This record gives sequence, C-alpha cells and structure tokens, in this order.
Amino acid sequence: MTAELVGGLEPPDYASHDRAAREQYDPVFTGDVKRELDELLTRYPTKMAALLPALWIVQRVRGWVSDQGMAEVAGQLDLTPAYVKGVVTFYTMYHQHPVGKYFIQVCTTSPCGICGAEDVVKAFLRHTNTGELGITSPEGRFTVIEVECLGACGFATPVMINEEFIESVTPDKVPDLLARLT
Ligand code: FES
Repeated sequence: MTAELVGGLEPPDYASHDRAAREQYDPVFTGDVKRELDELLTRYPTKMAALLPALWIVQRVRGWVSDQGMAEVAGQLDLTPAYVKGVVTFYTMYHQHPVGKYFIQVCTTSPCGICGAEDVVKAFLRHTNTGELGITSPEGRFTVIEVECLGACGFATPVMINEEFIESVTPDKVPDLLARLT
C-alpha cells in the first residue's frame, strides 16, 4: 500500500530509520566487557539484581545509555526493554543522550542557592562555552546541569565533575577547576 501524503509531505520512513539504527548498533558486551558482566553476575542472587551495575558498564563504555544499549542489557539479564527503560528513566545519573566528556553537576537547591550557586552555574556556562544548561560544548568536552541537594549543604557550592566531588566552589575558582581537566 502506498503511504498517504499529509499536507503534501511524504510521511517519515520510521521503519527504515529503526532498521538503520539496529544495523549500526555495536554491542557493548563483547570480549573483556562481556567477561566483566559475567563476573558481576556471580555476585548477585539473580540477573535482575545486577541491572544497575550492568547499566553503569554501558554508560562507562559509551558515555550514555541509548535505547539499543537498554535493549542489549535487557537481553543479557532476561528482562524486557520496557523494564530496563523504566529503571533508566527513574535514576538521573543515567544519561539518555550523549553528554560531554566532563559532566558537571552544580547544586542549586535553596541552601546553596542563597550562598550564590546561581553565580557558580553562570561561571561554568561561560567558561565551558556551553552557554546553556544541558547543552554540550562544541568540542564535546563539557555539559553543565543543575541538580538538587548533593548532601554537602554546609559547603556551598558543591559540584560534581564526573565522579569527583568538589566542595565550596565559588565563581572565581571555576577557571582553575576547568584548567586541570585534560
Ligand atoms: S542544598 Fe546544596 S548540597 Fe544540600
């Protein structure tokens, strides 16, 4: 059957797009990474119990967790892709789209807010050349986001750069913090 034209426009070819995405997917769990997953599974009573660390492996290898990555994890752990997606979308630490090499999280919840967290955010946006929250800098190095309480309210403003936790960040410290990142 010929696809109908709506408003004179060709409808998107979703089927070929999905097919192309599947064909281009390069599995994460091969070689050493598959062996790492197999070893991980020996430490949990069920495959399902290893879901969070398995997703963490995907994010470590790829930098984010795509729909195909979720489907691959589902296959490895005998879960449905929908179940895995539900978990990924619940936890904000899993990236559902590509982010910069350095993922910068700044606490802007009220206690940090009244100590100047917004100015820290502005300094990061300016010095990383991202300009906007959630946008990755042109060379792919930085993504800056605001987050809720990081549990260091007495040390405003706390910032996480990937897994590194940094307390008492002020706008004037931002250039030096960024300069030491390779
Ligand atoms: S409010 Fe910022 S760390 Fe708690």
